[in-house]
Amino acid sequence: MAPTATGETAPSAESVAGEHGVQLRLLKAVEHAVREDQGADDVAALLDKLVEYTNVHFHSEELIMRLYAYPHYDAHRTEHAELMERALVMRDSLETQDQAGLIELAAELSEWLRRHMDGKDHGFETFLRRQAAEALRRTPRETGQ
Ligand SMILES: [Fe+2]
Repeated sequence: MAPTATGETAPSAESVAGEHGVQLRLLKAVEHAVREDQGADDVAALLDKLVEYTNVHFHSEELIMRLYAYPHYDAHRTEHAELMERALVMRDSLETQDQAGLIELAAELSEWLRRHMDGKDHGFETFLRRQAAEALRRTPRETGQ
């Protein structure tokens, strides 16, 4: 977290990006479990973790956006809802899809998440960096007294 002009801490773009790394690792674990045919229970447990973590991460990201009156909040939130829907569809289709179908769903989910990170999330991280830079500029300079 970066200090603000009032001495409070603000979420940094780096901490948001770090949470994305956790999402991608969980997604890779899902893909690996499907490819290695580890069984529906293992894949379901990993997908549940991914859905739970992603849900918390998205809510936290959306809260920060609202706190900073992020101008692209609605469009960003819509993409979050889409990803959650896709993850839940995959979770619900574990019993009905064959391995090839699940590999395809995991790959689509992964591709979608990367696109979101490179697009909407990158824009939000840039916004947070500008907010932090402005907060530092507003911080009163020490006078040495
Ligand atoms: Fe996001």
